[in-house]
Amino acid sequence: MSEQEFIPAELKNLAGSGETTWRAPSNIALVKYWGKYPGQIPANPSISFTLSTSATTTGIKFNKQGDGREKPSFDLLFEGSPNRAFEPKINSFIERILPYVTWLPFYHLHINTSNSFPHSSGIASSASGMAALSLCIMDMEKKMNPGMSDEHFYRKASFLARLGSGSACRSIEGPIVSWGKHDHIKGGSDLYGTAFTDPVHQVFQNFQDTILLVHKGTKTVSSTAGHALMDGHAFAAQRFAQANRNLISMTDVLAKGDMDQFIELVESEALSLHAMMMTSIPYYLLMKPNTLAIIEKVWEFRKETGEALCFTLDAGANVHLLYPGESSEKVLQFIKNELVVYCEKGQYICDHIGAGAKKI
Ligand code: DP6
Repeated sequence: MSEQEFIPAELKNLAGSGETTWRAPSNIALVKYWGKYPGQIPANPSISFTLSTSATTTGIKFNKQGDGREKPSFDLLFEGSPNRAFEPKINSFIERILPYVTWLPFYHLHINTSNSFPHSSGIASSASGMAALSLCIMDMEKKMNPGMSDEHFYRKASFLARLGSGSACRSIEGPIVSWGKHDHIKGGSDLYGTAFTDPVHQVFQNFQDTILLVHKGTKTVSSTAGHALMDGHAFAAQRFAQANRNLISMTDVLAKGDMDQFIELVESEALSLHAMMMTSIPYYLLMKPNTLAIIEKVWEFRKETGEALCFTLDAGANVHLLYPGESSEKVLQFIKNELVVYCEKGQYICDHIGAGAKKI
């Protein structure tokens, strides 16, 4: 499938006005996307658990206006109040998607968006935010083309979301989504995420992700700037090769449910991502002392109890703790007793693997 397939045929039945609302979840990568080529093409394939509780809900009220020669216009409410901070990101998103939503300039969009997680929790809302926005835009397109298949609807929503933020293309479907071309992934594409259809062991069915909020401030370096540091990075080729190998191992682990191997892969991926940031020029340390303290506690707990608890990290200091549903009681007790002290204002978010975005 190529980009051409996402350019709509001339749409004759432009709706006058209407509204649509979608809730899209965040996701947590097991094999990380880090490094990209122009046009939001990932340097390596990635795979993630779709989350459930951490989500963005976005509504669009749209009105037809003008003759389509101007840029689409929008105004935005974030958590109920006008907010101009998101304007540059949405403007650049609109610019990138315009060739594929040629009807959009006929509209003014009134966007109303909110996150389920606390404001400035240090959790990136770009994945869930871009996914929810893309689904609303696809809903508008579907009103003009009611015969559109569900497959095309979700695929194009993921395609558009990717243009907003790479990892957002993995926030449309669930419970496990991969993104990027790879021999081991049937139908895998660099252009959109696809639900993982290979066999998955039942241990992953009710998998938990408790997000420990270690540092709620803004990130030292944005993901976009971080990806750029992989251009010309001394270890880039090795990292991309490692991610490709890890994806093969991960598909095997997901089928077999081998928790020792799962833990090794997930933690190694997280540390490799941070190692890339530590060895780029300029170099960054994205962990905080409390991130390290938590990691050491997790290793101790695992050694003592044998529970299948592991950590992963995104490009920041917060720690995601991954574990099977059946370990919930013990792990939550451990978090309350020993890890809460490392969280800013004692805050953490209990999330779990989920089914994907929903129309509201
Ligand atoms: C560390 O998707 O936020 O979370 O494409 O520039 O918007 P842009 O980057 P983004 O990168 C996220 C990277 C990551 C790993 C991952 O989710 O795979």
